[in-house]
Amino acid sequence: MSVLHTGMVLFLGLTLMTLKSTGDPGSAPKVEVQPFGTLSSGQKTDLYTLKNDKGMSVSITNYGATIVAIKVPDRTGKVEDITLGFDSAKEYEEGKAYFGATVGRYGNRIAHGTFMLDGKTYRLPKNNGDNTLHGGINGFNKKLWSVREIPSADGPALQCTYMSPDGEEGFPGTLTATVVFTLYQDKNELRIDYSATTDKPTVVNLTNHSYFDLAGQNHGSILGETLQLNATRFTPVDSALIPTGELREVKNTPFDFTHPVAIGKRIDAADEQLKFGQGYDHNWVLDKPKGGTRAALAAIAHDPTSGRVLEVLTTEPGVQFYTGNFLDGTVKGKGGYEYPRRSAFCLETQHFPDSPNHPNFPSTTLLPGNEFRSTTIFRFSVK
Ligand code: BGC
Repeated sequence: MSVLHTGMVLFLGLTLMTLKSTGDPGSAPKVEVQPFGTLSSGQKTDLYTLKNDKGMSVSITNYGATIVAIKVPDRTGKVEDITLGFDSAKEYEEGKAYFGATVGRYGNRIAHGTFMLDGKTYRLPKNNGDNTLHGGINGFNKKLWSVREIPSADGPALQCTYMSPDGEEGFPGTLTATVVFTLYQDKNELRIDYSATTDKPTVVNLTNHSYFDLAGQNHGSILGETLQLNATRFTPVDSALIPTGELREVKNTPFDFTHPVAIGKRIDAADEQLKFGQGYDHNWVLDKPKGGTRAALAAIAHDPTSGRVLEVLTTEPGVQFYTGNFLDGTVKGKGGYEYPRRSAFCLETQHFPDSPNHPNFPSTTLLPGNEFRSTTIFRFSVK
């Protein structure tokens, strides 16, 4: 071997070593995996943790493609878990609150568990009074998803896939749903990209059901945290939380979050809509930038004590703001903490509830040959 040749080999070798030790994409695994317990079927589950350089981490289980934890720093740098959930998959299997879950095939309610598509009537199992909620009795949150780490220039990324058979929970068409969770390496942002295809006309509404308490998941009430929504209208509901079809102005109502307001300020006001929801449990119609197809700012939540700020950006037309009115302190969550009523809020980006029965709402129909796509970003900072 000539001196020149040896030199080149050495140089190349050193370059490669340097790349590896500085963590080039694809060197050390970016996603840590640990066991998350066994389901009643005997199937084993895992917990995948994505970490970035800014002190943030996100843990996701393949059971329900569920976000189990989001840990972010407060204004002093103290990192806390700010989402409600459980310590094992078994508890998610028994749980009814949809903590952190990927909700599908149809998130939110379908009135009387029925809708028409292409002249055919479909009947779904009812799991919420006379209605179907969050995809039925065994929605996507109760399924074991296939998971793989995928390369991304943005940061650690996890792809979750589930194939829902034709007729599952009464819905037509085989639906192949994919959810990609990407944690940005250099900023505290989690991006969720949904996509789905079908082999028959069907309806789709996918969302994530994280329950946030920006003060930390075991801190109790969220009523002192503030919220701003980029929405001048909401979809009022009947007593079973089914939209009436109206798009109502929020002006001069407790539903006006066009400026930051403490969540608890008007939550118990004498208002029929608040009575129906036992608090906030409604869909806001997002004001969208004209012609924009990118994820736009939908909501800003702020906890004055910790300083944590959550911004939600989405391509979806609506957001369900739910204030955990049905939590009652009987469910033991992470670390044994019993989540009291209104100890967290959800911002479920979505198409409007019961859209298949409301032709005036943006359509949730997906046809074969088309692809459903949707993006939501949870962006964290301090103030
Ligand atoms: C619904 C609530 C429901 C909660 C948990 C929300 O999306 O709007 O009514 O209690 O999910 O299931």
